[in-house]
Amino acid sequence: MSQAWFQSINPQYTDRYALDQIIYRCPGSGDLLEVRHDMDALKKKSAQDWRDLFESRWRSQNKADASGIWGKREWVLPELPVEDIVTLGEGATALFSGAELSRQFAHQDIFVKLCGNSHTGSFKDLGMTVLVSQVNHMIKKGAPIRAIACASTGDTSAALAAYAAYAGILSVILLPKNKISLAQLMQPIANGSLVLALDTDFDGCMEIVQQLTLEKDIYLANSMNSLRIEGQKTVGIEVAQQLGWQLPDWFIIPGGNLGNVSALSAGLKMLYELGLVNSLPRIAVAQAEAANPLYLASKNGFKDFQPITAKETAASAIRIGNPISVKKAIATLKEFGGVVEQASERELADAAALGDKAGLLVDPHTGVALAAFKKLKAAGVIREHESAVVISTAHGLKFADFKINYHSPESTAPHKNLPVDLKPTLGAVKDAVAAFLDKKK
Ligand SMILES: Cc1ncc(COP(=O)(O)O)c(C=O)c1O
Repeated sequence: MSQAWFQSINPQYTDRYALDQIIYRCPGSGDLLEVRHDMDALKKKSAQDWRDLFESRWRSQNKADASGIWGKREWVLPELPVEDIVTLGEGATALFSGAELSRQFAHQDIFVKLCGNSHTGSFKDLGMTVLVSQVNHMIKKGAPIRAIACASTGDTSAALAAYAAYAGILSVILLPKNKISLAQLMQPIANGSLVLALDTDFDGCMEIVQQLTLEKDIYLANSMNSLRIEGQKTVGIEVAQQLGWQLPDWFIIPGGNLGNVSALSAGLKMLYELGLVNSLPRIAVAQAEAANPLYLASKNGFKDFQPITAKETAASAIRIGNPISVKKAIATLKEFGGVVEQASERELADAAALGDKAGLLVDPHTGVALAAFKKLKAAGVIREHESAVVISTAHGLKFADFKINYHSPESTAPHKNLPVDLKPTLGAVKDAVAAFLDKKK
């Protein structure tokens, strides 16, 4: 019997499909699939033995163990041969905290999980290493896959381009034209992907890539392919490990296509079921007000989810109106006492600036999550004594324009910090330093 397989998220359909089968949806219901694990086999090892094993591999010298994902490979793809792993050292990222962060957000136990400190600068690397490793394995076994394709708001494509290039596999990228950052666009171009800029939005690209990948020789890399979720689910497991095998009271996570929130919950459920933690947290999904279909659905208790046309937002990677993983996300929120909050452009930019003042470099998506944290705290949903981990999904350097605009002469932002043009004399510099120190008193 296999130790892991694909199965429908719809409980009425219990057929199992091998992980090397090219299948993305349940043939019976059309729902998405998820990767299921033989939990009885995993339970043969005690919780303490799992903790010890994971700790022994953390940031190891050994290439596979050093990856935050593959250091937990028995919970990810237990049957993948180690030599087929395609890793770029993803995961095992810092859990940021400190007195200044607590001061800026007026909250003692606030942490930021820096998932964007990764090879391509976003959390997408965590899932892409798993998907490309599995494809690498399938190609070695003779599968007729000629390329891997994805639709993207910029980060998935960067991750696919890098991992595919590293493995010597061709990649095809469908992007919404002029709707992603320059750094994001440059990444797949540099890595040699076929980059197709389509005059539509992400949802339009997603529709086309699903059709394109009906041909079995082009493999689909979007998060509707649940292999991606298997890598992304290690984030919650890492956080537990970093907090001494405990979970916080809350996770706050930005949501677009809504794969990542279900990934988070998948890792948390394994931790709990295998006895490594003894309580589960609550989850808050944060959306930009301009792209808030889940937020709107939360207002009617998720009875009626309606896709929308997402509008322009600085958080361009979550500019998604018709999230493919919405059913998984709603199930997760129901299971985890979940809530949804939204952030306006002003709120997300100001929250990002507060994080920056504490030493972070916050991208706009993490800004959405930090703003949601503030609003949920102000509303009394997150309480003073509760601990909260905000998932940071990208590196701020990918969104330099966002920062430059915030700190531009035209900006009316409350935390703006303008560079000072000066004559090159010691006197002028001394005066500027004195004025700065006075202001900070
Ligand atoms: C930086 C960033 N944050 C958040 C998200 C949202 O993740 P998901 O689409 O899985 O909800 C994405 C991707 O869409 C992203 O690129």
